[in-house]
Amino acid sequence: MNIVQDPTEGSLLLADLIGAARRVVFFTGAGVSTESGIPDFRGPNGLWTKIQPIYFDEFVASEDARLEDWRRRFKFKKQVGTAEPNAAHRAIAKLVAGGKVTAVITQNIDGLHQRAGVPSEHLIEIHGNATRAACLECDAHHELDEVEAEIARTGLSPVCRACGGLVKAAVISFGQAMPVRAMMRAEHAIERADLFVSVGSSLQVQPAASLPMAAKYQGARLVIVNGEATPLDGIADHVLRGSIGKVFSAI
Ligand code: APR
Repeated sequence: MNIVQDPTEGSLLLADLIGAARRVVFFTGAGVSTESGIPDFRGPNGLWTKIQPIYFDEFVASEDARLEDWRRRFKFKKQVGTAEPNAAHRAIAKLVAGGKVTAVITQNIDGLHQRAGVPSEHLIEIHGNATRAACLECDAHHELDEVEAEIARTGLSPVCRACGGLVKAAVISFGQAMPVRAMMRAEHAIERADLFVSVGSSLQVQPAASLPMAAKYQGARLVIVNGEATPLDGIADHVLRGSIGKVFSAI
């Protein structure tokens, strides 16, 4: 494992590795959006250092947990509303447009990769997307704004207008099943990759963190770009430390 501490040096190395690769997959976590003003989860001021996550079974079992989950979603919607894609989002979108990046697998739910220009056929959201809501029973789509208005009116969490099932933000909570189609698309992209770049993830959450391992074990070069150590640094070919924005602004 080669650790590069200087972001400029890291940027040059990453550019060389991408130049030499044929099929690149990017894997992103919350660290790629902090420089857009959206807090991450486990970094120094991460969300989970302040509040506890709401697990899927709590959401299903408790009206209070559902109302708290919705409160957090509306707060997040406001944060995302004022956020702009940053240098890393823009660089990754440019690399996708250049044709060498076959997929951007993201754990993020903020929609900033789409807004930076990554087309949906190249974007794989394995933890869903916080800009949408859906029924847990029949998957009927629900608009966040309508849900927010209904809760303001009734004080109750919404149920599906089609089947009466529970409605939830279309994001994967702890304890919730992963989206099958997204995971299959991710595995397909990994099978063919010769370079896998993890950016801004602490690589502590499964099964997401098994994807960089799968890439490495099928023969791809593994690069981890992150401000702090991760459990997979030991199997990475290169670890690039420092600000993600700095590493990508020179790409
Ligand atoms: N430059 C470099 N590294 C950064 C920067 C930055 N500007 N900002 C944050 N980081 C690093 C943090 O140090 C941290 O190690 O990014 C990492 C983000 O890790 P997490 O907060 O754990 O985010 P992530 O890995 O995406 O979490 C995975 O956990 O809570 C669930 O569903 C949630 O998708 C999320 C999943």
